[in-house]
Amino acid sequence: MAIIGSGNIGTDLMLKILRDDGPLTVGAMVGIDPSSDGLARARRMGVPVTADGVDGLLGMPEFADVGLVFDATSAPAHRANWAALRDKGIRMIDLTPASIGPFCVPVVNLDDHLDAPNLNMVTCGGQATVPIVAAVAKSGIVSYAEIVSSISARSAGPGTRASIDEFVETTATALQVVGGARRGKAVIVLNPADPPVLMRNTVYCLVDGDVDHRAIEADILDMIDRVCAYVPGYRLKQGVQFQVFDHHHPLYLPETGKFIGTRVTVLLEVAGSAHYLPAYAGNLDIMTSAAKASAERIALHETARART
Ligand SMILES: NC(=O)c1ccc[n+]([C@@H]2O[C@H](COP(=O)([O-])OP(=O)(O)OC[C@H]3O[C@@H](n4cnc5c(N)ncnc54)[C@H](O)[C@@H]3O)[C@@H](O)[C@H]2O)c1
Repeated sequence: MAIIGSGNIGTDLMLKILRDDGPLTVGAMVGIDPSSDGLARARRMGVPVTADGVDGLLGMPEFADVGLVFDATSAPAHRANWAALRDKGIRMIDLTPASIGPFCVPVVNLDDHLDAPNLNMVTCGGQATVPIVAAVAKSGIVSYAEIVSSISARSAGPGTRASIDEFVETTATALQVVGGARRGKAVIVLNPADPPVLMRNTVYCLVDGDVDHRAIEADILDMIDRVCAYVPGYRLKQGVQFQVFDHHHPLYLPETGKFIGTRVTVLLEVAGSAHYLPAYAGNLDIMTSAAKASAERIALHETARART
């Protein structure tokens, strides 16, 4: 496989794959900035590199052995990279919020998209919150889901900053398409605090009518365990909160009027494994671990298919 984008996300992903003896090998690291830290690290670790972008990748002898390409550039750059690679017989895992291919949140829907030529990993906020919305939606109709993701400004490179509009739109859409909410809204905060703060995520779900709070809590805790299997630093920061709005005390929503049901609030923290940036950058891990886990599952699926 190859990685395009030698910034925060691409470098963290490369380090994760190199540390592991799983089915993936890094055949090339592709950037556009010859002096980037990511390309320098790749060179030091024996990974073939090019600083000539996707054209450089196409010209590398190693490209002949590449079956899968991760894109960790920016949403606009991914559109151009996909245009250059879509007819080359490779699969692409998109870590930008360009959302060309179907959304993938591994614990919720990876099995539905194992053959997708281009798989979109949503966003760091989406990877952290969509599983929670999907867990709540098992018990009832989530008429509205709203999430707020807060990441350290230091961990958001220029590629992230060039993709903020796409972050908001892609995350909100994934809350609906993958999470199952009727409406979704996403907010991102780039927190400039120094020392940097850990990634935090707040999830609000409005669930219609009478619902079983214990069942919702059990499903959320189960989902957190399943995400922890590939992101060990993903955890509940406080107990799950429930607030009931009944006919006597409804919640008035500006867009839809009276809401009767339960508001579920889930507060999450994500500590990173500090493979590249320090542990505050759980936002790198939640994305790169999800992408790596998806690629490994796809590789196993392809091997099994080749045998049959
Ligand atoms: N930082 C995060 O927390 C985070 C989390 C999840 C997803 N993302 C997404 O990952 C992407 C990268 O984010 P980042 O924070 O690592 O940004 P970054 O700026 O640190 O990294 C992007 C890298 O891509 C390179 N690049 C840009 N255009 C290129 C092109 N056409 N070909 C090859 N390389 C190119 C840049 O030189 C840079 O090294 C963004 O789309 C962002 O939305 C970021």
